[in-house]
Amino acid sequence: MADLALNGGAPLWSEGWPAWPVQTPRTLENAMRCLQSERWAISGPRLDSDGFEQIFAGEFADFLGVPYCVPTVNGTSSLLVALEALDIGAGDEVIVPGLTWVASASTVMAVNARPVIVDVDRRTLCIDPEAIRAAIGPRTRAVSIVHLYSSVCDLTAIRELCDRHGLALIEDCAQAHGAEWEGRKVGGWGDVGAFSMQQTKLLTAGEGGAATTRDETLYRRMYQLRSDGRSRVALPRPGEMELSMAGEVMGSNYCMSELNAAVLSGQLLDLRDQNTRRAGNAALLDAALAAVPGVTPIQALPQVTERTYYYYTFRIDPGAFGGHTAESVSAALRAETGAPFQPVYPPLPRHPLLRPATKRRYGAIPGLDGILKAAVPQAEAVYRECVTVHHSALLADPARIAVLAEAVAKVQQHAGELDAMATPMDNPL
Ligand SMILES: Cc1ncc(COP(=O)(O)O)c(C=O)c1O
Repeated sequence: MADLALNGGAPLWSEGWPAWPVQTPRTLENAMRCLQSERWAISGPRLDSDGFEQIFAGEFADFLGVPYCVPTVNGTSSLLVALEALDIGAGDEVIVPGLTWVASASTVMAVNARPVIVDVDRRTLCIDPEAIRAAIGPRTRAVSIVHLYSSVCDLTAIRELCDRHGLALIEDCAQAHGAEWEGRKVGGWGDVGAFSMQQTKLLTAGEGGAATTRDETLYRRMYQLRSDGRSRVALPRPGEMELSMAGEVMGSNYCMSELNAAVLSGQLLDLRDQNTRRAGNAALLDAALAAVPGVTPIQALPQVTERTYYYYTFRIDPGAFGGHTAESVSAALRAETGAPFQPVYPPLPRHPLLRPATKRRYGAIPGLDGILKAAVPQAEAVYRECVTVHHSALLADPARIAVLAEAVAKVQQHAGELDAMATPMDNPL
């Protein structure tokens, strides 16, 4: 008789997991207020009070402890305005991690610069500071790092490297809303912090983004870069337009809609509490997984003073799992629990969405073919070994968390029954 649910056995759990995103009364109230108003975009005339876009920008900046925040349509556009504000373009190189969402590289190419893909630190899954150091050359202008899954990059080492070599630092915080390094929130360590508020993220409006900075000049540039070159009027009166034609820098329209900002302002109220609940359940899961042979949860570096969990991640020793890797183990865990288990991203050089040859204009970027050949052995090892589960599962009642560890134990015990070719899920953002 089959034991594993993947092979037709009884699953361990079939009562579901918390839904994500979470609708809250405040989110609904804000969305309703926005829809009932005559202002659905910052490009509409001002009403009697500040619009949601400006309210959310202030609230998010306060939450992060930074002076400036520019809301954008999505995380990709926040990376784009960061690169553009830093004046990165043709002939420049930007160092990016070998394990990340494709936007880390595609945004660099979108400003006609060359992404230089370097390897990650197998302990944290984040970019390896030593690999950054080795990749710095005469054309390097910036480093675009990603705080991945439940880790924070080694910000002390990377900030110091960037300062020493005169490089800009972009912190992609799409997966780390609220995480802290040495007591200061991520998004405030780089020259720019880039956030995504896409559907799966810790803070979401379905789509959304924000670029944060401590630098007033970068703020002015990013504001205009995402507003078609327009800047905000100092004291707009009701009925007047809030955006005026500054044109200090040529921009595009990446403005966040009022409706998305209204939703985010509502959702932000719950982020601290949700992060605390996720961290509490992650600690339970760490403890429960300690008893499973061949399983090691990914640990945060000691300087992480607040850890967030976009995806809870653990490493399996394939030797203890009958030689199977994270892909088939994740499939078996999904079948046992219905919880969103996945392997990590495919390493960036072979990510199916990194396709530089499909756009003629990328032909003008020298040496772009080389990015597909970048050697990232640590990212490859992480891809084989690391299993993740989306943060929505960590919002479950703490009593349910044991099921996740029981499922890992069951799959480990019955690993011999796993089909080597278990079908992987489509890798989400
Ligand atoms: C690390 C990282 N950077 C950038 C992005 C792009 O954000 P968006 O989808 O909001 O454009 C994502 C995913 O969405 C991401 O995970």
